[in-house]
Amino acid sequence: MLQNAPASLLQQIDLGLDKVNTVINQALQSDVPLISQVGNYIICAGGKRLRPILTILSGQTLGYEKDDLYALAAMVEFIHTSTLLHDDVVDESDLRRGRQTANHLFGNAAAVLVGDFLYTRAFELMVASNNMRILEVMAKATNIIAEGEVMQLLNIGNTSITEKEYFQVIQYKTAKLFEAAAQVGAILAGATDKEENALKDYGMYLGTAFQIIDDVLDYSGDTEQTGKNVGDDLAEGKPTLPLIYVMEQGKPEDAQIIKKALEETNREHFDQVLKIVQNSGALLYAKEQATKACNQAIEALAPLKQNNTTASMIQLAQASVARLS
Ligand code: IPE
Ligand code: IPE
Ligand code: MG
Ligand code: MG
Repeated sequence: MLQNAPASLLQQIDLGLDKVNTVINQALQSDVPLISQVGNYIICAGGKRLRPILTILSGQTLGYEKDDLYALAAMVEFIHTSTLLHDDVVDESDLRRGRQTANHLFGNAAAVLVGDFLYTRAFELMVASNNMRILEVMAKATNIIAEGEVMQLLNIGNTSITEKEYFQVIQYKTAKLFEAAAQVGAILAGATDKEENALKDYGMYLGTAFQIIDDVLDYSGDTEQTGKNVGDDLAEGKPTLPLIYVMEQGKPEDAQIIKKALEETNREHFDQVLKIVQNSGALLYAKEQATKACNQAIEALAPLKQNNTTASMIQLAQASVARLS
């Protein structure tokens, strides 16, 4: 759970995450032992369950609470987890959710293949909804996520990437799934077009804010809290928003150091880069951009009938920016 999400968020409404976890456990079953082993390892390591929460909140705000809402939420978490398994192979990460990554412990091949299992199991759960629009939204979203990850790959070590290109990458690789998570909950609940679009936009802006903060935490976070290594983005040569800010708007000598560090893809310059992003106001700037997206998420909810659930959605957006984990 988001460490600093207001406790009231969870008390006010019955999120039904236990029902999501029941579906998750059932859907992890396989006669192939390695699948259950790796699948359980990653899914049961925790995780904030933010995307399934979005699906649930979307359905609940429109008064929908049938069991298939929780199955759909589990499906979204399966898609998310499969992207994490693949992402950690691509990023060569060795820590996730406070544990060794699956690729580190079981090897790249097992991580990729079990990622495929979760991904395809998600499609089985989707088909069970018997709703063509849900399938359409998820098929498009998963395709866009893949494009986003490939776009990011092409931008490794790119020192002339623009802010606009960065925003496109994060909208594709991350915000799209937040958007789809909220949208499918709305569709299942029989939303009007206006309601569906409001929830879809809320998810998209929230996902954007969330990824910007993830990129800030890669410089300023605490491994104990994030469960991930600090400094991985720089070591991978990922030009994230704090670095783009310095390269575009910082002192020329600082910009030069950042460019060199990005091109070299190692951890050698991390301390120097950290000082620069802190002192140049780059982290502050990125947080401002996240706050802007968070406010847009909140504004997107305006067309909806306001209730306890929309109030929780507002708190969730704010907590996603203030988060430390
Ligand atoms: C990690 O997402 C991947 C990003 C998009 C930054 P989360 O931070 O939601 O991961 P878990 O599920 O809580 O581990
Ligand atoms: C996560 O991007 C996006 C997807 C998994 C599709 P990152 O690579 O920035 O996320 P972390 O930092 O590994 O969680
Ligand atoms: Mg990664
Ligand atoms: Mg990251």
